[in-house]
Amino acid sequence: MKNNTISRRSFLNSLGTAGAALSFLSLTDALPPLKKINSFFTGKDPDLEFLVRAKPDTAAIFKGPETKVWRYEGEIIRGPKDALRIIPGSFLGPIIHARRGQAVRIHFINQLPESSIIHWHGLHVPEMADGHPRLAVNTNNTYVYDFTIKDRAGMYWYHPHPHGRTALQVYMGLAGLLIVSDEEEDQLALPSREFDIPLVIQDRVFDENNQFEYDSEEVRGYGAIGDQFLVNGAPNYELPAATRPYRLRVLNGSNARIYTLAWSDGSPLTVIGTDGGLLENPVKRDYLVLSPAERVDLWVDFSKYEIGAQLQLLDLDPYDLNFAEGKKIISININKKENVDSSVPQNLSALHLNSEMEAVNQKNPKIFQLSMGAGMMGLINGRSFDMHAITTDEQVKLGDLEVWQFENLTTNGEMSLPHPMHIHGLQFQILQRQSDPKFQKINALINKGQVDEGWHDTVLVMPGEKVKILMKFTDYDGLYLYHCHNLEHEDMGMMRNYRVVS
Ligand code: C2O
Ligand code: CU
Ligand code: CU
Repeated sequence: MKNNTISRRSFLNSLGTAGAALSFLSLTDALPPLKKINSFFTGKDPDLEFLVRAKPDTAAIFKGPETKVWRYEGEIIRGPKDALRIIPGSFLGPIIHARRGQAVRIHFINQLPESSIIHWHGLHVPEMADGHPRLAVNTNNTYVYDFTIKDRAGMYWYHPHPHGRTALQVYMGLAGLLIVSDEEEDQLALPSREFDIPLVIQDRVFDENNQFEYDSEEVRGYGAIGDQFLVNGAPNYELPAATRPYRLRVLNGSNARIYTLAWSDGSPLTVIGTDGGLLENPVKRDYLVLSPAERVDLWVDFSKYEIGAQLQLLDLDPYDLNFAEGKKIISININKKENVDSSVPQNLSALHLNSEMEAVNQKNPKIFQLSMGAGMMGLINGRSFDMHAITTDEQVKLGDLEVWQFENLTTNGEMSLPHPMHIHGLQFQILQRQSDPKFQKINALINKGQVDEGWHDTVLVMPGEKVKILMKFTDYDGLYLYHCHNLEHEDMGMMRNYRVVS
């Protein structure tokens, strides 16, 4: 770590205790001249500046006792008032709306009883803005992020990333969306405002007093699976809708559960975007497999339904794909007549796929083997997470294209688990999937519900599967992470650093 970084952090740490108690106006008065302290600051005045505070609170999720949660709350310091949008009644953090090209500064104030740090999932940001666990700050301390939004229009998200406590902190409620728009997207005139609906799907276990239940011993292994679905923090989510097209942006914000989403009337799902923004052209799937941290941007036209009709978004069992037994996640109630032109644009986006891609595709990939060791230790190539370590394979050159292959070849019983693999700091392309014949049947079913087109930051690697991805390391050098986004697996060590060197 560079010296200026340390002085920056300790300065802020001493500021934090006092700063936390102040209103945001006096906090901004107390802010030091950032650019002089750390070269990581862009040096320009941000277009958008806000505070995000993480703190314990309660939320009225069910009738009766309120649920103890941890939540993010935000406050705008500079920029348009609607840059932060609260989901009414939800424990989720405010939805951050930003434009591509905007300079953003965020003051994270940790008022949790333990250390934490925010990670901006999916964004291409400098090392010091990526939220690596070594940057976690203690209770009542502050961490300042400074970066420019370079990413394509799309839905990204933010969540905690402290060492060994990510799963619990997310489970307690800490997560929020970050929606980026840009000019290319503006031109498509996709459904907007109240017709553009972000949907965060999560699952939780509640006790009889409406409190989250998280038994850290019990969730080792598969990961935390809840029997109660929440959408944007609410149970039994209902969406009143008009007979017109909508854009539904879905995040699987669950710790470990993989969803198989389908419309209850068997209509195919029309997908216009993935983790890293819009696809080149829309694609259709009969069902969609969405693993933790993955996003899918759906275009749906309700004009074929009658007033009074009810449509549900279901979670199916991928083994039998039985709609009658699908579990309801969202009910859509058609309650208003509207006539709007309703065709999905066929040309959505230029993907800017790399022309060097074909050549690179022929090269031997770097292999990353995923496994569970003794005591349910998560391993990548036999190693578990180490705060600072990198191997030669984990060192990459700035500007290089690389092909990585994740291999999930543990085939003995309870150790063979799906791993949604995530890489920080960039978006990648999925080149190829191969399955061990023993798992061919289920993996073929899963693959039919996946959208491998477009840009991704998370890819599900099923037992018996090998998945090849292509990425380019641009703009920033430094230490980043790649890990399983089953958050219990991440905390169990299935995470490693990679370093971009210039
Ligand atoms: Cu959303 Cu390191 O992860
Ligand atoms: Cu991430
Ligand atoms: Cu995993």
